[in-house]
Amino acid sequence: MSEQNPELQQDDIGKSLVPLQSTQEHEMAPAVLDTRPSFYEFAGLDQEIAQLTEFGAIFNHPELAREWDVEVPTGLLLCGPGGVGKTELVRAFSRELGAELIEVAVSDIQSMWVGKSNELLRQVFNNAGEAEGKVVIFFDELDGLFSANAGGNSGVSTALISELKMILTHLRENQPNTIVAASTNSLSGFDEALLRPGRFDMVLQIGKPNDAARAGIFGSYIGRKFELYDLGSGELDSRVGGTIELSSLAAATDGMTGADIKSILHSARAKRLMAHIQQGADLAPVTQHDILLAIRHHRQQRPNATN
Ligand SMILES: Nc1ncnc2c1ncn2[C@@H]1O[C@H](COP(=O)(O)OP(=O)(O)O)[C@@H](O)[C@H]1O
Ligand SMILES: [Mg+2]
Repeated sequence: MSEQNPELQQDDIGKSLVPLQSTQEHEMAPAVLDTRPSFYEFAGLDQEIAQLTEFGAIFNHPELAREWDVEVPTGLLLCGPGGVGKTELVRAFSRELGAELIEVAVSDIQSMWVGKSNELLRQVFNNAGEAEGKVVIFFDELDGLFSANAGGNSGVSTALISELKMILTHLRENQPNTIVAASTNSLSGFDEALLRPGRFDMVLQIGKPNDAARAGIFGSYIGRKFELYDLGSGELDSRVGGTIELSSLAAATDGMTGADIKSILHSARAKRLMAHIQQGADLAPVTQHDILLAIRHHRQQRPNATN
């Protein structure tokens, strides 16, 4: 019957693609759900994204790069304060590149024994080398290795840094399909030798977003990139309503990051939701006023977010 009724088939396909619903209707979840973001989900990071795109394009065309005497990059280091999008940007980069992502927390490879830690690190690279396609190995918050008492054993950290340097030196010839990426809050105390060409050869410094970038981040979360608009069309986040002036929201969030903005919008929605659940208040959309209140509250709770 379904053969004669293509519409029904379409419908069924659509249903099976709705992944995370809790009803029993969807017995079979899709095997793999890629939760990595795309580049277009970021705002105010156009230059960084252009550089990542260049990195990926050259990496994808090594012969051409060699002919033109352009170094094929191996490693990518994102440096900047917390909440500016470093982790998500690397995740997006691996997705845009069509690469598998292996995320490694420094604590995962730190063992009490130097030998064991180095072995774990080599194992990570060996696993990547066995993959069929491209792989990005991502050491998030690599600065953990450089703090004085990292993992309680600085000998382990020193040995890991040496091992990493050695692996990176030969990575291009040994595993041309592997890119190594890392994030760090700062470059102070960072082993300079890791920044040599052929190791982490591209360093992206990401600062806190400026006014225009913060307006863009609000816009991207609320659903539009215009300066001033009246919400209410289907393209917008229906949980936000009324007139929203992105420039006012940007001005009120001076010194804050994308992570702060995301958290502010979340609090404003949560407050509305709680008033509805607990007091039976109307579940009306969040307004600009609500968002400004949430910003004030956020600033009071996190004075460090202020410039
Ligand atoms: N410029 C931005 N545009 C959109 N979202 C952002 C931006 N900066 C940060 N975010 C969001 O803030 C959250 C924290 O980002 P994250 O990558 O964890 O920051 P970091 O690793 O630098 O601490 C993520 O949900 C991310 O998507
Ligand atoms: Mg991070």
